[in-house]
Amino acid sequence: MKDSLLQRLESLREDFSKSLTQVSGEHSLQELKSEYLGKKGRLTEVLKEMGRLSAADRPAVGAKSNEVKEHIEARIAEALQQAKSQAIEAELARDRFDPTLPGRPEILGHLHPVTQVMKQCRDIFERLGFVTATGPEIEDEYHNFEALNIPEAHPARDLQDTFYLQGKTWLLRTHTSPVQIRQLARQKPPLRMIAPGAVYRCDSDVTHSPMFHQIEGLWVDEKITFADLKGVLARFVKDLFGDALQVRFRPSFFPFTEPSAELDMTCFSCQGKGCHLCKGTGWIEVLGCGMVDPSVFGFVGVDPEKYSGFAFGIGMERLAMLKFGITDLRLLFENDVRFLKQF
Ligand code: PHE
Repeated sequence: MKDSLLQRLESLREDFSKSLTQVSGEHSLQELKSEYLGKKGRLTEVLKEMGRLSAADRPAVGAKSNEVKEHIEARIAEALQQAKSQAIEAELARDRFDPTLPGRPEILGHLHPVTQVMKQCRDIFERLGFVTATGPEIEDEYHNFEALNIPEAHPARDLQDTFYLQGKTWLLRTHTSPVQIRQLARQKPPLRMIAPGAVYRCDSDVTHSPMFHQIEGLWVDEKITFADLKGVLARFVKDLFGDALQVRFRPSFFPFTEPSAELDMTCFSCQGKGCHLCKGTGWIEVLGCGMVDPSVFGFVGVDPEKYSGFAFGIGMERLAMLKFGITDLRLLFENDVRFLKQF
């Protein structure tokens, strides 16, 4: 009995060795393992018969069966490991990385046309020594109107133009000029600042949007004259649109500047001959400007006898339309990528 079991264990080990050389792959290895070591496996069958052995014979058969079991387990583990690395090798061989393939291009976005123009303007003024300041988009009447010498009855205060919030306590700033007041209250002259940002007006058509962007400018020092205003703003327009064009200053009115002017440049579409774009005048309106009104200085405690200055306000969407030849302002706010892609 004992010998026949030992014999069976030995031939079981030999059979296993033979089968092992014939199988490959993880799945067949697992099957082979259960054929020998599983609940109904061949080794298990032998172990069941051990109960019939005498106590003296049991240890020898037990030791042998453990040895065979460990042998099978070890060989299976080894073969599994090998199968796994073969599978990895095969996969690597299949999707070999080809360094000679062309790269996939990244699809990059770019700055919005208004942002581009705004950045160009800021760069030009920064080169001229203007420092960027900011102010709140939610303003009060004092900063947006009163301190800018816009009296209560002025049409700019009309409910139609201004978005009021919470009764009349707050409003959405209608221009960037309140930043002039805030900055002058904070910093005594000399002062040379620009204030880029969003502004709001109750207005909407082909050339007006309820939200748009301006850059405000202010230079206050001793002996600043209208000649400085002309020099700085002519330089700005030529840097932006090219040296060839001409500029002119046309008298205008703003409550917070005196004298006030609007700057026009030669129409780049017809070179001044007159066309649809400039409505036949040969000139295109670019910005509003003027010498700071002494009464504005009064509000912020700057001595108008000692200091003078000029201010200007430039609409960014308008500049972007001029620069890129866009005819409908609303396209700038719809943000259709097919439109934006072109700039
Ligand atoms: N704030 C004026 C506007 O929005 C522009 C302006 C600014 C004019 C500064 C003169 C001086 O129309």
